[in-house]
Amino acid sequence: MAETGMVPVFYNADLATCKNVLKACYDGGVRVFEFTNRGDFAHETFGELNKWAAKETPEMMLGVGSVVDAGTASLYIQLGASFIVSPVLKPDMAKVCNSRKILWSPGCGSLSEINYAEELGAEVVKIFPATQVGGPEFVKAVKGPCPWTSIMPTGGVEPTEENLKPWFDAGVACVGMGSKLFPTNLIKEGKWEELAAGVREAMAIVQR
Ligand code: 3PG
Repeated sequence: MAETGMVPVFYNADLATCKNVLKACYDGGVRVFEFTNRGDFAHETFGELNKWAAKETPEMMLGVGSVVDAGTASLYIQLGASFIVSPVLKPDMAKVCNSRKILWSPGCGSLSEINYAEELGAEVVKIFPATQVGGPEFVKAVKGPCPWTSIMPTGGVEPTEENLKPWFDAGVACVGMGSKLFPTNLIKEGKWEELAAGVREAMAIVQR
């Protein structure tokens, strides 16, 4: 996560769309991708996507986000998730992920939650919803007393220099990005090359 600096966050019920988006991200330089658990049959889509990804995007680490309970975390780990992301902080999810040696990134919105998450074994803490929680100023404030904390803000992050620079200046390890990275019209119209170009540009900004 820290190496590439960006974790795209995406869900679509249609498997073919998911494959195309994953491939566009891969072509754009992404190597860590968060599929979100947003639909009733999301786990079935993920299972298929993960099998396909092993052949077509072999260097991609494919994880699952929007997981809010231990049972669902366990299901996705069985289906091959490389990591689990959650918008919330739940000790029983930590147990499931730690016992399977799967990286787990819980959602936190305060220093106490961050500290507790680290006690529970979180290596990367997701600040969510990052913009509303306090933006880069919040990250700066956290990094003062806890300089060791690896932070991934998600929620409202945009693929522009103006938006990304303050996050990285504040010391985030990487950013999570969903809606702004995946314009609805490009997805609907299947403009995968254009999508890959946007992702590549976002990666270039992040690397800078
Ligand atoms: C998430 O799924 O974690 C976030 O909702 C993604 O947020 P964004 O669409 O604002 O980037």
